[in-house]
Amino acid sequence: MATFPQIRTRHFFVFLVCCFLTYSFWIYSVPYFKPNQLTSREQNLVSEGRLVLQKYNCHTCHQIYGLGGYLGPDLTNVYSRRNQNEDYLKAIIHSGVRQMPAFKMSELEMTSLLAFLKNLDATGNADVTKYQPESIGTFTLTK
Ligand code: HEC
Repeated sequence: MATFPQIRTRHFFVFLVCCFLTYSFWIYSVPYFKPNQLTSREQNLVSEGRLVLQKYNCHTCHQIYGLGGYLGPDLTNVYSRRNQNEDYLKAIIHSGVRQMPAFKMSELEMTSLLAFLKNLDATGNADVTKYQPESIGTFTLTK
């Protein structure tokens, strides 16, 4: 059986290394999505909002990007869902609805929570109910 000459193998190896380096550079230099241009005050509000969400354990009943509890709906795009606005969200959170308890939070907590939900919504749009799990652990989008 003919063996490849040493020089060819080395060239092929160098070629693969170059592909790897080019691909790695490309992956890390092209942003997956464009982050919103937020002022530092808005950024602080958004980070505070994430803490509010954790403090009141919203994720035990709600999902974000499809992850979390399944008693309530996914909150990723709740900010821009049709016929809803900040007053609607405030009312639901302050007074609760069916299995969801009422949350008595300060104005500042509510403002930052809404800023977080708004920013979350701006990261993208997807209907998680349309994704079905595959046997190998990945998800595919169904029609
Ligand atoms: C005990 C479980 C539970 C917790 C904790 C909870 N929720 Fe809910 N939430 C629900 C359920 C269930 C619904 C759906 C109620 C319905 O319409 O029947 C809901 C509905 C909502 C809605 C309305 C969604 C829509 O599309 O109309 C919003 C917004 C919401 N929750 C936000 C929050 C936030 C923010 C928190 C944390 C401060 C939170 N929830 C904590 C159970 C929960």
